[in-house]
Amino acid sequence: MLQGKTIVLGVTGGIAAYKAAALCSALVQKGAEVRVILSSSSRQFIQPLTFQALSRHHVIVDTFEEKDPSVIAHIDLADRADLVVIAPATANVLAKAALGLGDDMLTTTLLATQAPVMVCPAMNVHMYQHPAVQKNMQTLKERGVLFVEPGEGFLACGYTGKGRMAEPEAIVEAIISQFEVKKDLVGKRVLITAGATREAVDPVRFFTNRSTGKMGYALAEAAQARGAQVTLISGGSNPLARPDGVEWIPIESAEDMYQAVMSRADEADIIIKSAAVADYRPAVIYDQKMKKKEGNLTIELVRTKDILRQLGEQKLAHQVLVGFAAETENVEENAMKKVHVKNLDFIVANNVAQVGAGFGTDTNIVSLYDRNGLLLSLPQLSKREVSDRILDEAIVRFEGKK
Ligand code: CTP
Repeated sequence: MLQGKTIVLGVTGGIAAYKAAALCSALVQKGAEVRVILSSSSRQFIQPLTFQALSRHHVIVDTFEEKDPSVIAHIDLADRADLVVIAPATANVLAKAALGLGDDMLTTTLLATQAPVMVCPAMNVHMYQHPAVQKNMQTLKERGVLFVEPGEGFLACGYTGKGRMAEPEAIVEAIISQFEVKKDLVGKRVLITAGATREAVDPVRFFTNRSTGKMGYALAEAAQARGAQVTLISGGSNPLARPDGVEWIPIESAEDMYQAVMSRADEADIIIKSAAVADYRPAVIYDQKMKKKEGNLTIELVRTKDILRQLGEQKLAHQVLVGFAAETENVEENAMKKVHVKNLDFIVANNVAQVGAGFGTDTNIVSLYDRNGLLLSLPQLSKREVSDRILDEAIVRFEGKK
């Protein structure tokens, strides 16, 4: 079940460290390649040799233990990981992670990895309830860290309450479901637009915008992975890798995108318009390169067709129509206006002025709105994760129309 997956298992200093050995063994038995990092205090409870024997790999304790001169160990591990799991996660490691400290191998790996992170807290009930610990956990959740909640019961310290690390079987189950790709779009046609349009002035110049298409491409990949038949209509210079198994249609201008979308719209079950389409284009496109002249130049711009609005007007009963709103202020008000005017099922709004959101980044921070207002606000997530959340909502809407 976990064949081909590399899981970095971080073990920190709590009595539940003994359960981490069972977890390591179960993950290896399910086919995962497990790379273990021990915090120095975990060694008071368990030895590296235990994990070395179970994982069949060298176990890392010291940040500066560089066995392979061709790589930097914590960066190499961080890059290889498909998932980083911390079990048990002490109050101390949660605080360090929330703060972004990197004072040992595990915390530097956490800072360097792009993989999802899952933590399995284990501590005394009063420590668990402490406002500082609760706040750190909240910070990590908002950052997209996954939690396998501790259980209630007898604790090694003699107390009874919440704080006992989840059992290895439950953690394995959470890990498997993290990797499970839902196939809930089989038989559905999904039409996605991505990137920026280019509005030509003459054969060498054009007007465009900052959109790179990363969000739309992530949506196309996610929909394809979930079994959909995907058409991706892509603007811009298309430096992004063309997703496998997706019908890919490159376009230049808003008019090209309009034609490409309209000729396929009726077949689509779900349409997601993440492209940043020009609202204006030059009134005249010159056949020959414009030559500079004395004085200023004024270029007259005329409106392009609003593709999304047209789609909203002709929307079929079973179709789900999703728009995007890139805003720099009054996000909610502007997004809600677009939901109504363009007859959308919902809109994905982001403040492109925010760090970690918007153009060119690998992450996004979005909120979803429908006719009734805010549906959900997501924390900063990778664009792929954002895509899956958008698709989850689109599927609910699609099923609701049956
Ligand atoms: N859109 C479109 N056709 C256009 C312009 C935009 O389909 N000619 C779509 C985008 O793909 C996006 C949504 O409309 O899904 C954005 O809404 P819009 O009101 O056009 O946003 P802005 O272009 O940012 O407009 P405004 O100046 O009103 O903020």
